[in-house]
Amino acid sequence: MVTEALLLGFLIFLIFLLLRRPPGLPPGIWGLPVVGWLPSTSVCLSDQVMKLRKVYGDIIMWRTGCLTSVFLCNYDTIKTVLKRPEFSDRPTFFTYSVFSQGSTIGLIFSNGLQWQRNRRFTLRQLRDLGMGKTALEDAMQEEARQLVQDFKKHTGKDQPLPLSLGVAVLNIIWTLVADTRHELDDPIAHDFIRFIGNTNDHVQGPVFLFNMFPWLLTLAPKFLKKRLGYYAVKNDLKRVQETMREFIKQHKATLDPSHPRDLVDFYLIELQQSKDSSQDDTLSEKDLTELMSELFVAGVDTTTSILRWSIKYLAKYPQVQARLQRDIDAMVPKGGFLYYHERSKLPYLEAFIHEVHRCVSLAPMAIAHSASQDTQIEGYTIPKGTVVVPHLECCHKDPKYWEQPHHFHPDHFINPDRSFNARKEGFVPFAIGRRSCPGESLARVEVFVFLTVLLQNFSFAPPPGLELTMDKDPEVLIINAPKPYRVIITERV
Ligand code: HEM
Repeated sequence: MVTEALLLGFLIFLIFLLLRRPPGLPPGIWGLPVVGWLPSTSVCLSDQVMKLRKVYGDIIMWRTGCLTSVFLCNYDTIKTVLKRPEFSDRPTFFTYSVFSQGSTIGLIFSNGLQWQRNRRFTLRQLRDLGMGKTALEDAMQEEARQLVQDFKKHTGKDQPLPLSLGVAVLNIIWTLVADTRHELDDPIAHDFIRFIGNTNDHVQGPVFLFNMFPWLLTLAPKFLKKRLGYYAVKNDLKRVQETMREFIKQHKATLDPSHPRDLVDFYLIELQQSKDSSQDDTLSEKDLTELMSELFVAGVDTTTSILRWSIKYLAKYPQVQARLQRDIDAMVPKGGFLYYHERSKLPYLEAFIHEVHRCVSLAPMAIAHSASQDTQIEGYTIPKGTVVVPHLECCHKDPKYWEQPHHFHPDHFINPDRSFNARKEGFVPFAIGRRSCPGESLARVEVFVFLTVLLQNFSFAPPPGLELTMDKDPEVLIINAPKPYRVIITERV
């Protein structure tokens, strides 16, 4: 009798422990034991969190499976938190570790020394190889000219945007990383562009369940893993990494240490030096493979998506398009070119691009961070390992910063004297702080150059009778890429 009573007491205590929500956490959803509370699959997660903000405020806790996440939903908090070193780490998600082949290598998903070294190296390479240099802009200009020739083959047709747009973007980053470019109509490059899009779709799909329930990785039967997209993601990454290894092999065979051509050469030289001095063990070919894969995936789909969104907005808002074309015709006649440092001559184009970023919030919840120690945010307890998500889209929809938060309104970024107003408060498409996007400058210049040249030469319109909608895909988790849409391209005479 006594034993049974003790067992019952122990059981009740265990259930209590399982159900108990640790004290001091931010308000939000704790949910059921083991499962927590799973998000709906019919509405995208960032929209679900925005709804919760109305109930729980700007700092929201949400437990899903083994993850306790804290969503930060206002600009001031995000700005402060992302500058704190204890929030610089990434969580150990399956979808992150599959990239880095189980180890903490590369840049996007690594932590500590490895991350610091790769971030410094990448920023230095982007700067030394191109950013702020006219040679890179000349290369972009050449790419844009080729794009015009390719778009001319697609005028007057009701069709999706040509894949050449993605190839032009790929060529820019790939010139910096691996000194390589593809012809814009190269079927291999088109295949790559489709593949990168699919990879991003797979990573945002049901495979995310493995992040919430990591024990499924060992317990789930093969058929379930297949259904959840486990093998698709693994195969995608394997293909990217094989491609990168091939680049590295070619680079090693032709490396001339006194004339480095690109990021890969610089890395290989540093790798050799580190082997000679045996000082830096963060460098390895595996790490380089990962770094290249990340730059390839992060650098292409993001910028191409912003260009595809921009063209969709141009087609949907013909008056905005006409105003942009008038400005461009006045400042940069056909065949002419404007360097990025002269962009103040096109304030409305700058405003348009910023407003597209604001409205689409390409990375609505950035990339998840995690707390590397027990700490606090605005008085709430944040235990070590908590997933911390900066909800960038909340900043972009906050009426505190935007007169028309839910409408497309480029004048948000225009001063009364019609100059460009680079509003900093509440505008964070590239995030902020220690992990902010290292490709920001590159992406900004590319989008500006490509849009100027495309608007000089073409107009975009929806096919007759079709209304272009700007809805988000419910599956959006990391990148809000536009759903495929049809458009009619007309050459301007
Ligand atoms: C329109 C284009 C782009 C947007 C909107 C964008 C946005 C972002 C955002 C929101 C983050 C997450 C920051 C955080 O975790 O706090 C990020 C990280 C990152 N982005 Fe971009 N990005 C763009 C283009 C690029 C390009 C062109 C590159 C390549 C050169 C790039 C490389 C990276 C890398 C490597 C990281 C991880 C940084 C780290 O973990 O330290 N991005 N980006």
